[in-house]
This record gives sequence, C-alpha cells and structure tokens, in this order.
Amino acid sequence: MKIVFATNNLHKLSEVRAVLGDSFEIVTLREVGITEDIPETGATLDENASIKARYVYERTGLDCFADDTGLEVEALGGAPGVRSARYATDGHDFKANNRKLLHELEGTKCRRARFRTVISLIRGGVEQQVEGVVNGTIATEESGYEGFGYDPLFIPDGRSVTFAEMSADEKNAISHRGRAVAELVKLLKG
Ligand code: IMP
Repeated sequence: MKIVFATNNLHKLSEVRAVLGDSFEIVTLREVGITEDIPETGATLDENASIKARYVYERTGLDCFADDTGLEVEALGGAPGVRSARYATDGHDFKANNRKLLHELEGTKCRRARFRTVISLIRGGVEQQVEGVVNGTIATEESGYEGFGYDPLFIPDGRSVTFAEMSADEKNAISHRGRAVAELVKLLKG
C-alpha cells in the first residue's frame, strides 16, 4: 500500500520506515513533486500536523500522513514546543537550539521534559490524529552522535543515556515518534 509521508527529513523517514515495515510503501514529498517547504503556521502541534497532511492531500489526492513534534520543557512553561525547530534561529540549526536550551536551563534543578509527536493521517479523504509521548529529563551537557535535533540532551525516563547514545532501534522502541507511529499502524491496519 502506497502512502505519502509529508517530510523530507531522512532521519524521520528511516525511523518511520523501520516501524511500518514492508506492508507500506512510504513515499516522500520530493517523490510526489512537492519541493517547497510546507508553511507550519499553526499555533499547536496538532494544527501543524493537520496543515501539512491537508496540503499534501489537496495537491496529490493520495493517502498521506504528516507529523509534528515538539520538545516541551516543564521549567520553560512547555517551550520550545511548537517552535522546537526554530528555537534559536529561523533555520533548523540543531546545535544552536541545544546551546540555547542549555543556556535557558542553566542553574535550574527541575529539568523535566517530554517529546510529543502528533500524526495526522488522511485516508480516503478522512482525517484522523494520533499522538505519542516520551517523558524524560534534559541533561546538563550533550552526549552521543546518533539521531538528530535535541537527542544529545534528552534522557528518557528509565534510562541513563541520551537518545543520541542509543541505536535507532532502541530509540524507536520508546520514542515519541515510535509510539505515535505504532498508533498510526493500528489505524492503517485496523
Ligand atoms: P518537526 O517540526 O516535527 O520537524 O520537529 C521540530 C523539531 O523538533 C526538529 O527540528 C527537532 O529539532 C526536534 N525534534 C523532532 N523530533 C525529534 C527527535 O526525535 N529527537 C530530537 N529532536 C527532535
């Protein structure tokens, strides 16, 4: 079964392909001729996931899904949240974002945080949403080289290493996106 994943992020693509397995042929935006950045103008993760999925559906008429993820830090009132990609600068500068997060949390004891992923699926023109959450803490320095984004700073509950120190399989098994995709699979196979 063919389905468009509204992303060109190769990290996300390989994470999602690993969870969805061979039963679905996942096609990227580029492969369906969408080369422009889809505007993420929503005020929430739910809105942005929906905006991206609808954008793809309106242009292609194909079944599709889009995800939006945010890191929500308790001591920062849920920031960077929906602005996670553009926290430090307008670009997707992971290093600058991590530096800013460490700076904002300097001297802060409460370092609780969670990653939340919302996925909007449009199938046969009908939209449904699922989400996945992983709770954890923000480390005081970066560790590890796997993954992307805030992974070098995020230690999931029950573990003593960051996401960036785990293999892709280990991360997928407990991550926000892994959990959201598991819910997506239930919708697709149900
Ligand atoms: P997006 O809008 O879903 O692409 O995600 C927004 C931002 O959240 C990304 O630019 C990353 O900085 C961060 N992010 C999303 N997923 C992850 C993840 O699995 N690990 C670490 N950071 C992530």
